[in-house]
Amino acid sequence: MNKNELEEIELRLLLEGVYQRYGYDFREYAEASLKRRVRQCIRDEQLTTISGFQEKVLHDQACMERFLTTMSIDVTAMFRDPAFYVALRKKVVPLLRAEPFVRIWHAGCAGGEEVYSMAILLREEGLYDKSRLYATDMNGALLEKAKAGIFRLSAMKEYTANYLQAGGSRSFADYYVAKYDNAMFGPELRANIVWAQHNLVTDASFNEFHLILCRNVMIYFNKSLQARVHDLLYDSLAVSGILGLGSKESIRFTSHEADYEVLDDRQKLYRRIR
Ligand SMILES: C[S@@+](CC[C@H](N)C(=O)[O-])C[C@H]1O[C@@H](n2cnc3c(N)ncnc32)[C@H](O)[C@@H]1O
Repeated sequence: MNKNELEEIELRLLLEGVYQRYGYDFREYAEASLKRRVRQCIRDEQLTTISGFQEKVLHDQACMERFLTTMSIDVTAMFRDPAFYVALRKKVVPLLRAEPFVRIWHAGCAGGEEVYSMAILLREEGLYDKSRLYATDMNGALLEKAKAGIFRLSAMKEYTANYLQAGGSRSFADYYVAKYDNAMFGPELRANIVWAQHNLVTDASFNEFHLILCRNVMIYFNKSLQARVHDLLYDSLAVSGILGLGSKESIRFTSHEADYEVLDDRQKLYRRIR
């Protein structure tokens, strides 16, 4: 047996152990990035083998939290991919306007930047008061940060540029108060946001939504897990509801392709038609 084959066995045992011990199921995450993350954890913990890491992670909850942080890959930004938000304003907002009440699910919301962006957009479009935003992630620590609405002041330059490119017409600085190194976003944006821990792999559908954003999450899953998560999103979407995916994701070649019409091909916006 060569080194790679042995590592394969160790990796499967690690993921099985983490699942049995903590309930987090990474068994069907995409292999290449999964291996990169695990190797990074082994280095960070100053260990040498996956088996050594498995022993530590199973016995040490703090080590599991660090593993979860590494596995979360929480890269995000306010108004990330500004053209996506332009498309939201043009093509999705008119559909939401027709609804008496709007439920939106941000599945895999990381530190909340995407959710605050949506809150700002809805405020500007006069839809916020009739909307409820459900912001979920598997990582509870990220949600705690998101809930506070405090972001790095140094990121505001990039976010302001994104906001303007995304069709924002106000002064972005009006949405936050700068204090020391922080930008604090106001309670008027948070009022209609519900934050909750939810794992797309192990948890069920919990409501029916008019709009679901699940962006840059499924790229870390293998094909069969992607298919299961697409089932969950489909089951959670009202007929005529909209699904928004990340720039490298698509509904094409999934078993739900025929259940959606393309609202914007480039911006990965799809409308459930049946
Ligand atoms: C790259 S971020 C994407 C954030 C945001 N949607 C965006 O596009 O900017 C991926 C997020 O997915 C979350 N995630 C990964 N696996 C998940 C799962 N099984 N269930 C729920 N969230 C998950 C991670 O914790 C992380 O916060």
